[in-house]
Amino acid sequence: MSPGIPSFAVVSGRSVQRALHGREPAVIDLIESAYRLHGAGSTVNPPSYFLRFPDQPNSRIIALPASVAGNVDTAGLKWIASFPDNVANGLPRASAVLLLNDRRTGYPYACLESSVISASRTAASAALAALRLGAGRAERGRVGFIGTGLISRYIHTYLDAAGWPFTRIGVHDLAAGRTRGFTEYLRGRTDIPVKAFGSAEELIRESDVVVFATTAGKPHVSDPGWFSHHPLVLHISLRDVSEEIVLDSVNVVDDVEHCLKANTSVHLTEQRVGHRDFVHATLHDVLTGGYEVPADRTVLFSPFGLGVLDLALGAFVYRECLRAGELVAIDGFFSELETHGSTEPATVG
Ligand SMILES: NC(=O)c1ccc[n+]([C@@H]2O[C@H](COP(=O)([O-])OP(=O)(O)OC[C@H]3O[C@@H](n4cnc5c(N)ncnc54)[C@H](O)[C@@H]3O)[C@@H](O)[C@H]2O)c1
Repeated sequence: MSPGIPSFAVVSGRSVQRALHGREPAVIDLIESAYRLHGAGSTVNPPSYFLRFPDQPNSRIIALPASVAGNVDTAGLKWIASFPDNVANGLPRASAVLLLNDRRTGYPYACLESSVISASRTAASAALAALRLGAGRAERGRVGFIGTGLISRYIHTYLDAAGWPFTRIGVHDLAAGRTRGFTEYLRGRTDIPVKAFGSAEELIRESDVVVFATTAGKPHVSDPGWFSHHPLVLHISLRDVSEEIVLDSVNVVDDVEHCLKANTSVHLTEQRVGHRDFVHATLHDVLTGGYEVPADRTVLFSPFGLGVLDLALGAFVYRECLRAGELVAIDGFFSELETHGSTEPATVG
């Protein structure tokens, strides 16, 4: 950005979708490089801050501040609301904005609609993990989705774009209407057989890759026996499986400090056993060859979701919109820019 009067632009969800459409493989690469920057210490990613409401215990708004150096070179804040009751009223659960700040001046320079950025970075991270944790393993074609909202839809799109060898897609949701809706959505897009399951147990037992993307607040799957065929589990919603299943699995997380918080399943496990030895690796360890996933264990990937991923993708979307002439600059957004005199030290005369 050029020095002078700082500019400020707003980027709509429609522009974000246009910038990302058809770019899934490039987004997966971009998310991989953000993980590598994070693992190499080129990011600042403090703990997320949860705003909760005593009169609406299932709702929350989370602040994720972050800074990324390297070729992203941006600081910022993701502010994402989760109101699960929205869904019954025909509105998506999550809504979000992302503020991008210039790292030289601190000035914010853009506000982007961010539910699409968040869903895309989550799905890209899940696809990346599947590619790196599932590679070289036996047949991985039967993929099952538990919880069939926006995140499962995006994960299917990203796995498909990454060339995942689907042989059958399984679908299960507590709400029968949502199971039906996602089944119909998938059948309209693929020739691969799509099977609706009446129970999580059946789906898990018949899947090589299990995706949890529910809104469960505490574990609802507790029998390690359901995983005896050792699937790869993408535990995106973080609170679905019991401590017994965590302890029976190889655990890969995105960031140990972040993930062992907020009563995630791995956090509950730490509270139960009093240590963290059951966490085998971070995704960065796997990406850089520092950890090889064993073929004969269930692999549980639990990504807390790092603000640095949103920043990396948000900065990419900003640059794409700038290139396409789609930024809506807000004239006079910063209006009090007068300073008095120079900053030379005073001389005693
Ligand atoms: N880890 C991350 O980085 C990350 C990022 C984004 C979203 N998420 C999480 O992903 C989850 C899904 O998000 P979404 O936007 O798709 O939500 P959504 O509300 O659109 O869909 C969630 C679905 O889960 C179903 N569900 C709830 N409990 C269930 C259960 N016990 N068994 C089966 N189905 C159940 C609901 O009926 C609903 O259809 C949320 O928990 C969200 O917090 C995680």
